[in-house]
Amino acid sequence: MDIKINKTDDSKQYLEYNTLGGVFDFYFLAGPTPKDVSSQYAGVVGLPAMQSYWTFGFHNCKYGYRDVYEVAEVVYNYSQAGIPLETMWTDIDYMDGRRVFTLDPLRFPTHKMRELVSYLHAHDQHYIVMVDPAVSVSNNSAFQRGKENGVFLQHQNGSLYEADVWPGLTAFPDWFNPVTAPWWNGEFNIFFSPESGVDIDGLWIDMNEASNFCPYPCTDPAGYAIENDLPPSPPPVRSNPRPLPGFPSDFQPSGSKRSVKRASTKGKKVGLPGRDLINPPYQIANAAGSLSNKTIDTDLIHAGEGYAEYDTHNLYGTMMSSTSRGAMLQRRPKVRPLVITRSTFAGAGAHVGHWLGDNASLWEKYRISIAQMLSFASIFQIPMVGSDVCGFIGNTTEELCARWATLGAFYPFYRNHNDIEGNPQEFYLWPSVAEAARKAIDIRYRLLDYLYTSFHRQTLTGEPFLQPLFYLYPEDPNTFPIELQFFFGDALLISPVTDVNLTSVEAYLPNDLFYDWYTGLPVRGTGANVTLDNIDKTDIPIHIRGGSIIPLRKTSANTTTALRQNGFEILIAPGLDGKASGSLYLDDGESLEQNSTAEIKFEYENGVFSLFGTFDYLPAASIETVTLLGQTSQPHVTRAVQDSAVEGYEYDAGRQSVMVKTNIGLTGPAQVSFK
Ligand code: GLC
Repeated sequence: MDIKINKTDDSKQYLEYNTLGGVFDFYFLAGPTPKDVSSQYAGVVGLPAMQSYWTFGFHNCKYGYRDVYEVAEVVYNYSQAGIPLETMWTDIDYMDGRRVFTLDPLRFPTHKMRELVSYLHAHDQHYIVMVDPAVSVSNNSAFQRGKENGVFLQHQNGSLYEADVWPGLTAFPDWFNPVTAPWWNGEFNIFFSPESGVDIDGLWIDMNEASNFCPYPCTDPAGYAIENDLPPSPPPVRSNPRPLPGFPSDFQPSGSKRSVKRASTKGKKVGLPGRDLINPPYQIANAAGSLSNKTIDTDLIHAGEGYAEYDTHNLYGTMMSSTSRGAMLQRRPKVRPLVITRSTFAGAGAHVGHWLGDNASLWEKYRISIAQMLSFASIFQIPMVGSDVCGFIGNTTEELCARWATLGAFYPFYRNHNDIEGNPQEFYLWPSVAEAARKAIDIRYRLLDYLYTSFHRQTLTGEPFLQPLFYLYPEDPNTFPIELQFFFGDALLISPVTDVNLTSVEAYLPNDLFYDWYTGLPVRGTGANVTLDNIDKTDIPIHIRGGSIIPLRKTSANTTTALRQNGFEILIAPGLDGKASGSLYLDDGESLEQNSTAEIKFEYENGVFSLFGTFDYLPAASIETVTLLGQTSQPHVTRAVQDSAVEGYEYDAGRQSVMVKTNIGLTGPAQVSFK
């Protein structure tokens, strides 16, 4: 479909849909506010899936890790650098000749992969690998089982449809075929078996547009694979070059060792008869040329109802997504599955998260990532989203990567990933990037319950937690075009530095009261740009919106598991009317069905801070500090409903804030009075 938005010669605005088939379903979402429109859209496509607490930790990946030792070394290096790594990822490199459901027996052998995963789990870290939809036709038992079950797409004459992806000649699962999900589940159970396989915690799915390297008409896919060296030879095998203290002996250099089957159905080719499914009369502006170029042929007919690929192309990735979520769920039925996909369709957020694909390591892509992320999180209801931090294609720079480490800390999905051709870019490789990452992760983790609470609210109501400025200030037209600042939850305005060699940013502050995150001091917005300067490349400007109460962890931690043990600090930032409010949602962090939860509301009014709500889930931590900002003189902290809760307080005239030391258990209502 081509969508054209433009003005006519006599300056009238128009919106035009040009399509090569299908039926239009129009929904008019009445708002009236932009935020309402987002929630109403969720009502149409479905609410997004809740994610586990750990998934909001920091993730690291790279295409091109040469063996399991290198993966282990990266884990080790992060730990040595004091940069919290929650989840390690492995790209297609782990596969034998890039074939899904196989392990390279020399570079990523099963027993070492299992040791790596056990090591990560023992350190409260997680592991994720990539799975592509296309299955190599050569010497692969997953392919044989799939073929016997008839799960793969066929030409109309009944022969197997073959094309080329990473391993060379491949076949493509037909997600419409009812036999495909049981086969996919079965392959997951074998390959990702906790007892004998790679016990992954989350899943990464890719190439599911579906991608095909062989240009249309791709008459000789086998020849194409040979000519294009698919799969390429893997790197030479090596033994681990250096000791990795704390890792099993298998990871030390040698010498230093210390110790349901259903018949396939064939499609009926539904839809208007006699259509040309390859070259329709209306040609959309397809950048790839022919509709079937670089993807699977549009005249393939799916099993089941017999839909043509022509009519269902955009669903391939989303059907793989929901089938894969199902496969992850049957492995671990009790926990929320994390699946990150490249291709999405309306409603995909109910099943999966999304990374924004192959961006380049350029400032332009750093900037555009904000608008892209906001589109998915605030409008499309796929809030688990982020772009490859430091950029995927090409070589990043120290400055870009440092800035991106700080910006990425405010993506819901925070992952450093880069291409096989690009220079390595793990955060610990440059001192300034390591420092930026440590500082940004510290802030992100202290805010993790605030993120989790706001994200959870979106999964119940569709109210987006990441927001462009005009979502919170819809009456202020100056906010409409702003693409380089955003709200992280309702309370935090993020204004990143946006270009090379800059240490300042022109940030728009709406007509409202804000507080500087770092100094705690009030900043009165006037609906104008202000220059924020002296911003070191390891920092990112953050303003707290007056009227907010933010639940923070008092200190960050090396893993999200440890973080959940840390006490809370409640930060009160009164608005222009002197009031503030906020909330905290608590649960066990991962169960699909929660036995108990806590939904706590915070209010500050007339100098009294109150918390109330439901307290069924009892966290390990209590509220250790309540901080009140914006106090030009010292108030008197006189009482608490729980008498023992106030243990003392301090007034900091420089920061205009009062810090109350408390011991408020999150077990029931409480109050602290500042009068
Ligand atoms: C695709 C993905 C990228 C991945 C690469 C190799 O380009 O978008 O993230 O690294 O394939 O699997």
